Amino acid sequence: MEKTIIHDPGEIRRLSASARRHGESIGLVTTMGALHEGHLSLVRRATDENDTVVVSIFVNPMQFDDQNDLAAYPKTLSADADAAFSAGANIVFAPSVEHIYPDGFSTFVDMTGPSERLCGSSRPSHFKGVLTVVAKLFGICAPDRAYFGEKDAQQLAIVKKMADELSIPVEVVGCPTIREADGLAMSSRNARLSADERAAALCLYKSLAETRTLFDAGEKDARKLTAHLADGIEATPLARLDYATIVDPLTFEPPIGRPARPGDLLMLAAYIGDVRLIDNMKLQAPLILASASPRRTEILAAHGHKHVVIPADADETIADDSPLTPAEVTIYLAELKADTVLGNLDPKDWPDGCRVLGVDTIVYKDRIIGKPVDEADALSILRSLKNGVHEVISGACLIHAVPDNGQAGGGDDEAGGRFRVTERHSFADITTIRLGDYTDEEILAYVRANPPYDKSGSYAIQSEWGRHVLELCGDIENVIGLPYQRLSTYL
Ligand code: PAJ
Repeated sequence: MEKTIIHDPGEIRRLSASARRHGESIGLVTTMGALHEGHLSLVRRATDENDTVVVSIFVNPMQFDDQNDLAAYPKTLSADADAAFSAGANIVFAPSVEHIYPDGFSTFVDMTGPSERLCGSSRPSHFKGVLTVVAKLFGICAPDRAYFGEKDAQQLAIVKKMADELSIPVEVVGCPTIREADGLAMSSRNARLSADERAAALCLYKSLAETRTLFDAGEKDARKLTAHLADGIEATPLARLDYATIVDPLTFEPPIGRPARPGDLLMLAAYIGDVRLIDNMKLQAPLILASASPRRTEILAAHGHKHVVIPADADETIADDSPLTPAEVTIYLAELKADTVLGNLDPKDWPDGCRVLGVDTIVYKDRIIGKPVDEADALSILRSLKNGVHEVISGACLIHAVPDNGQAGGGDDEAGGRFRVTERHSFADITTIRLGDYTDEEILAYVRANPPYDKSGSYAIQSEWGRHVLELCGDIENVIGLPYQRLSTYL
């Protein structure tokens, strides 16, 4: 479909009906424009999962309680449309206020319960405005799937609830928060921060991350965690706290009479100068890495994922005549490692549940290339990789599990009936690498200085051998052994 900007809702309705007649699926990303990488991550995900992707750009006056905030909201339609199209969108829908709210408009969608707390209490008619416009956009675009950011966790939860309760036939998909390199959640409002305010704004992320670390270290007292969350903001001179709290992810009620637990959300809103920012983080069950690889541990730690290492003692033999593709082999081995470790855990040691991560990395060029057995093997492998392209494939399997207290009636699942698997994600990620030329002498010098016997393909990209990489297409951390870009969606 040709990439077009459309203003008229009637035209979108016709295009959407025609796409549906042709059996095409439609993905919708609703935005207020000033698009950044956070928005574009939603567009890319929608593009991956749908035939046609509509990005709506509409600064919705009904959800602004502060007219100055509405007036200051950046309006950059032409740059936004270019960015949306580059990320894969087919249609940008940019209606006018009159298109959405014609004269005499008097129907609203409102919700009690979770929408009344936090942002709903700080900004009383905000969610009524959000739900009304989102219901309208769902009506106009009739998407199969609609993508919303976890950055606005309360918005995501109430949009899901609205679609469910009003029987709107759309799957509401949550997407992870995209952050600046230092951790600040991307937001169209960040552009309004002065340099000092930008530095101060980091207190939201820092306070969330520190509080989550405290939880990971064993602090489960919700009041203490909440106090810590608030302290991080109150100690920052340019910041003024709106709210800091821990909530249940469905009701958005704080835990009363119970400890904080995995799945609960740490929620923050604060003014930095006069810019109001929000951010949140989910409390997670402990993460177990079913691999002894120090490089995987380093990558997880670098992204702030505290974890314990329990290597799997599984039989990793793959029959020579196995019908599995290389990517399937890595998934099979990753699942084997994760299932083996989970099967050996005692639920008593993990009362809040756990997440088990199995990973397997191989190098592929005409055949699966494993770890070298000796110097001659390393020499022959590195010779075979020079002046050409090979693939590094990492398979991952992430299992979220909780102790099965008998309700599931299990007994024959992968976890032997002692844990109940609540989520399971398996995938393989492929990075393509072109290596340049080098001599046998260089290979021997390298393998003697950097014994490669624990590395598929006989080299480490992060070592000096990296200088032979002429081209790399994909996720570099996938080459080091952990497909973090894709994994981060599920962690
Ligand atoms: P807006 O703030 O433009 O955000 C549009 C979508 O992008 C929302 O789903 C939001 O959660 C998501 N998003 C924003 N920043 C993000 C980030 N850093 N990482 C991941 N996703 C991010 O939210 C709205 O607009 C409006 O309320 C809207 C739903 C369009 C209704 O008017």
